[in-house]
Amino acid sequence: MSYPTRVKLVEVGPRDGLQNEKQPVPAATKIELVHRLQEAGSKEIEVTSFVSPKWVPQMADNAEVMNGITRLPGVRYSVLVPNMKGYEAAVLTRPDEIVVFGAASEAFSQKNINCSIAESIERFAPVVEAARAAGIYVRGAMSCTVGCPYEGDVSPERVEYLARLMKDIGVQHIGVADTIGVGTPIKVRKAMEATLKHFDINDVSGHFHDTYGQALANTLAAVSMGVWQFDTSVAGLGGCPYAKGATGNVATEDVVYMLHGMGIDTGLDLDKLIDAGVFISDALGRPTQSRVAKAILAKRASAAPCEAV
Ligand code: HMG
Ligand code: MG
Repeated sequence: MSYPTRVKLVEVGPRDGLQNEKQPVPAATKIELVHRLQEAGSKEIEVTSFVSPKWVPQMADNAEVMNGITRLPGVRYSVLVPNMKGYEAAVLTRPDEIVVFGAASEAFSQKNINCSIAESIERFAPVVEAARAAGIYVRGAMSCTVGCPYEGDVSPERVEYLARLMKDIGVQHIGVADTIGVGTPIKVRKAMEATLKHFDINDVSGHFHDTYGQALANTLAAVSMGVWQFDTSVAGLGGCPYAKGATGNVATEDVVYMLHGMGIDTGLDLDKLIDAGVFISDALGRPTQSRVAKAILAKRASAAPCEAV
């Protein structure tokens, strides 16, 4: 089996990771997280979302966060945008990329963005057109490509349908998301194959939540198909407010450890990533969800010289 020699990881911790937090996270903490991630080598960071603050209060500081980060050359900063109102606010903060987000299941589309799949595409079309005219790259995200919290299993045909609609309106790259982390490798492969009917392998990424502990296996299944772009979240933060019980994205540290162990380059510094994960976990007052970070932190602690008493 041949694997790609390089994999690109889009860090979604500041957005997907923090959107679901019950406690308020200060904008300064989010900004510091972005800074630490770029110091660890992240070249693609999903910073925030321009959604309704009534729906997702945690992202209400979107402009403050975008305007507060010190940008590094070579790093691309993306934001989620559900409609024209979100786009108009987002564009003032100069994102490199916007993400329109739809769902392969009707029920999730209604719960998450308050409209049908067809209506969502009607809303996205002018957003995509405006962004592309302004030279902003457009990514699409497809939620619930293997399972939905309201409808259960989702067929590859539903995924193919949404991928086609996204392609038709000019979306340039598409993310295949397992929103509630129920997927297993063959189901994920089928969702990917359905997507690849409309998008080139170089324009497809995986976005796997780890609720059932399958996200690394699903990542490997996609990598073995030649998919080389994934969304991951430092410390395994994340979840969607409209997908109850869904836990975080696969931890960036765990994916990096697996890929580096396979001789696949990510451009990321695992030690610095672990430090970024510790920073945000401490700020949230709970341990990291990354297994690799836990193991390496335990190793660091046992190697540290005993403190004098
Ligand atoms: P709506 O209530 O149907 O919107 O919400 P509306 O157009 O009827 O407007 C109602 C009010 O919201 C108006 O204000 C609008 O101005 C305002 P009012 O007149 O009542 O004062 N409004 C906005 N305000 C700020 N920014 C906006 C905006 N749009 C309208 N963009 C809407 C529709 C899409 C806005 C809402 O449902 C929403 O914000 N949903 C977002 C939900 C969300 O963020 N979910 C998490 C992100 S997706 C995700 O995590 C999945 C992903 O990770 C992949 C995966 O894992 O599956 C990407
Ligand atoms: Mg997600």
